[in-house]
Amino acid sequence: MRGVIERYRPYLDLADTPAVTLGEGSTPLISWATWGTTDIFLKLEGTNPTGSFKDRGMTVAISVARQQGAQAVICASTGNTAASAAAYAARAGLPAFVVAPRGQITQEKMLQALVHQATFLTVDGNFDAALAMVRKVAERTSLVTLVNSVNPWRLRGQETGAYEIVDDLGRAPDSLVLPVGNAGNISAYFQGFKRYGHGVPRMLGIQAQGSSPLVSGQDVENPETIASAIRIGKPASKHLAVKAVAESGGAFLAVSDDEILDAQRELAAGGVFVEPASATAYAGIKRLKAQDMLPDGIVAAILTGTGLKDGHTPLKWTQAKTESTDADRLEETLRTLLNGGAVHVAH
Ligand code: F0G
Repeated sequence: MRGVIERYRPYLDLADTPAVTLGEGSTPLISWATWGTTDIFLKLEGTNPTGSFKDRGMTVAISVARQQGAQAVICASTGNTAASAAAYAARAGLPAFVVAPRGQITQEKMLQALVHQATFLTVDGNFDAALAMVRKVAERTSLVTLVNSVNPWRLRGQETGAYEIVDDLGRAPDSLVLPVGNAGNISAYFQGFKRYGHGVPRMLGIQAQGSSPLVSGQDVENPETIASAIRIGKPASKHLAVKAVAESGGAFLAVSDDEILDAQRELAAGGVFVEPASATAYAGIKRLKAQDMLPDGIVAAILTGTGLKDGHTPLKWTQAKTESTDADRLEETLRTLLNGGAVHVAH
């Protein structure tokens, strides 16, 4: 498949819009575990071209922007939107401007924006302030097209994640679990399941405790969490997300930073490395399991971005063996570890 526009064009209402694509989408949906009457599936969105789910929306938003004669694109971002906008704008031959909260996005994401030659700017404030600023500027001038998820084409593109799950399972899962920041993705999945047919899952939106306006029902002035991608206090699509959860009989849930790190470690120990924001979804599943509240049937979690986008946070729980070795010491280490000796191995 050559990207989500070619795969799902009739569902996107794009007629003959030429696709600006990097071959996004068609990401793996893996079977992770069966616990009692619940089957857990994980959708690995970190395998998209820039390492996150944003590419699904960006291919559509930037294809439309180019067709409509945009001169440049702009976005506010906690990092992944910036990386994706920079890459797809580069592919389209358009300049990109990205605005990030100063000191609050990972180096890896900043580097992605820079290598694709976006103009990278920061604000002294959080993501909410950055988004308010770029929205104002995009309203004032027709020089730039806004490619945040308030651009409806972004959400249309992100609907394709739902289409793929239905194509893989033959039906919608019973429950869908995903991390919620600016609340665009949960809204896109809900619309996607409705549009594609074959059922709509219970939508379970997981937020980080220090940034959980949808759980408390109150905007958060100074959001805090280790999951920098979802450090957002005033979600732009909250009205859509609230509707998605209410209509589907779902819920919002907050998990602590410790639960997020624990979920990241458990996923990695099973071969799946995701960034903290993505681990938030799995932390939600673990919480429900611990409370014996895990729904029956198929539960699919959207793991939104690769762990390589944040190489720093896992240093909190990883242990490197840095001393040099030789054949004898190596053999000794193997014997100790494999015989269940004193050295602790993550499991
Ligand atoms: N997971 C990751 C890895 C993200 O980067 C984001 C959002 C989310 C989850 C939440 O998705 O905002 O649609 O509810 N990142 C945005 C950005 C805000 O700027 O990259 P959402």
